[in-house]
Amino acid sequence: MSFLENIKTNVRALETYAVKGKTLQPGLIKLNQNENPFDIPDDIKRELAQEFFSQSWNRYPEVFPVDLLKALSVHTRHPVEGIIAGNGSNELMYTVLMSTVGKGTKVLIPSPSFFLYEKAVKVFDGEVLSVRMNDNLSFPTDRIIEAARREKPALIILVSPNSPTGQSIAIDDVEKILAATSSIVLVDEAYIEFSDKPSAQSLIEKHDRLVVLRTFSKAFGMAGLRVGYFLAQAALCEEFLKPKIPFAVNNFSASVAIKLMQRKKLIDERIAYIKIQKEFLLNSLRALPGIEVFPSDTNFLIFKTRHESGALFQRLLHENVLVRDVSSYPMLGRMLRVNAGTEEENTTFLAVLKKNL
Ligand SMILES: Cc1ncc(COP(=O)(O)O)c(C=O)c1O
Repeated sequence: MSFLENIKTNVRALETYAVKGKTLQPGLIKLNQNENPFDIPDDIKRELAQEFFSQSWNRYPEVFPVDLLKALSVHTRHPVEGIIAGNGSNELMYTVLMSTVGKGTKVLIPSPSFFLYEKAVKVFDGEVLSVRMNDNLSFPTDRIIEAARREKPALIILVSPNSPTGQSIAIDDVEKILAATSSIVLVDEAYIEFSDKPSAQSLIEKHDRLVVLRTFSKAFGMAGLRVGYFLAQAALCEEFLKPKIPFAVNNFSASVAIKLMQRKKLIDERIAYIKIQKEFLLNSLRALPGIEVFPSDTNFLIFKTRHESGALFQRLLHENVLVRDVSSYPMLGRMLRVNAGTEEENTTFLAVLKKNL
C-alpha cells in the first residue's frame, strides 16, 4: 500500500503554491507580488532589533498577541474583541475556512479572484461556486445575489479591491449581498490602503455575518514578516478563534507592526507615492499601441497585449524585469500583471516592455 492512499483525495489533486520567475537578486526589477517597493527604514529596523535583543526568545509569545490587538484597535477604531491577528492574512483565510467549510460546503467566489481561496476551499473538501465577473471585470452583484439565493453558500468571498483584476465592489453592493443572503461574507481588503473607495468596515456594526480581512504585507511593506488581521463582531470572532492555530504571530513581527502603526506619516507618504506611480504606469501603458490596460484601485495593474503572455513574461524576465503572468486565470487570456515599484523601476519596466512588444 502506498502512503498516497492515506493522503486526502482532494489534497492529492492540488498543486503546491509556487511563484514563477527568479528569487530576489541584485539588479532584478521585481514587480510580480504586489509588494511595497520600500523596505522599513534603517533607523526603525535598528530600534526594533535593539528591543528584540532584550526580549526572551525561549518563551512563547501570547496565545493571541494582546499588545498588537490593542494597537490594531486604536489604528482601526474597532473594538479589540472584534479583532483577530494572524501570520499574514493567508493564515486567517484558512482560519475562516476551518470554522465554516467541511465536506460539500458551498463557498461562492467571483471569478477571477485571488486563487488561494479556491485552493483552500478544496483543502477542506468544500465546493466552489464561481460567478464570473462582468465583461469589463467589474463585480457582478446581481448574479452573485441570484446564485447565493439559489445555492445558499455558507460563505461568500469578495476580494475588494480584487486581485488580480484591481477593481472594487461598492460597499452598497456588499450590503445588498448581506441583506439578500444569510451567508457569512468575507471581504478581503488586502489593497484597501491604495483605494479611494470606502472600506466595508463601516458595515460591521450592523452585520454580524461580515468579516473584513487586512494585511501588513502591502501598504505597510511587511510582506516578509507575516502579519494580517481581521475585523468582525465579537461573537463571530469567538467562533473563528476556536480552531485558530495558537502563537501564530511571533513577538518580532508583532513589535514591527505596532511600531509602523505609530509611524502613520511615513506609511501615508509611501502610499501616496505608490498611488502616483500606479497612475504613471496606467497612463504610460495606455499610451502604448496594442495594449489594453484595466482600471485599478490597487498598487498593481493588469494589461492585455497581442502576445502570448508566457513568451512575453520570459522575454521581460530575460532582461531582469519580473512581472506576473496571469493569463491562466479565467477571462485574463494574454494578460500580464505589474505592480507599481519605484519611479526608476517603473521607467525601466516600461522601456523593456516597449522594446519587447
Ligand atoms: C487579495 C489578497 N489577499 C491576501 C494576500 C496575502 O496576504 P498576506 O501576505 O497577508 O498573507 C494577497 C497577497 O498577494 C492578496 O493578493
